[in-house]
Amino acid sequence: MAVRVVFVCLGNICRSPTAEGVFRHLVSEAGLVEKIDIDSAGTGAWHAGEAPDKRATAAAKRQGVKLAGRARKFQAADYEVFDYVVAMDSANREVLAEMAVTEAYARKLFLMRSFDEQSSPGASVPDPYYGGEDGFEQVFDICMASARGLLVHIRTTHGL
Ligand code: 4NP
Repeated sequence: MAVRVVFVCLGNICRSPTAEGVFRHLVSEAGLVEKIDIDSAGTGAWHAGEAPDKRATAAAKRQGVKLAGRARKFQAADYEVFDYVVAMDSANREVLAEMAVTEAYARKLFLMRSFDEQSSPGASVPDPYYGGEDGFEQVFDICMASARGLLVHIRTTHGL
């Protein structure tokens, strides 16, 4: 069975769709599309049904990465479906931690930047929503560095 990964931010229109697109890109390059399933969600529902933010889509496109999907709210039941629930920041990790009603669920919860050994412990992917274009470039780069580390972690852990 495939390893299942869901990236989670607040709105599911900026950071987590970027993380999803970047990770999908790396997984595709590695020839592991059949082995790793990828999704994203938000802890909030304000943007449910919307496509990724145009600024996030543009920043990703400049780097050759396509963003796709529609925003949805993360559900407690997602803990049953996914093996890795990857929070973009500590505030969202807190919300997700409260939704993890079993020890097994709690063990599935990770912080995105924890997979980037260059970043400091507890570091977040900053929310770019109210900022300028450069914030989206930064989010892309952070997601790329973290996603590379996540892929190495999954390949090692699951023998892929
Ligand atoms: P995201 O960014 O959590 O990276 O998708 C945001 C999107 C929308 C809002 C905040 C952050 N908002 O307040 O509507």
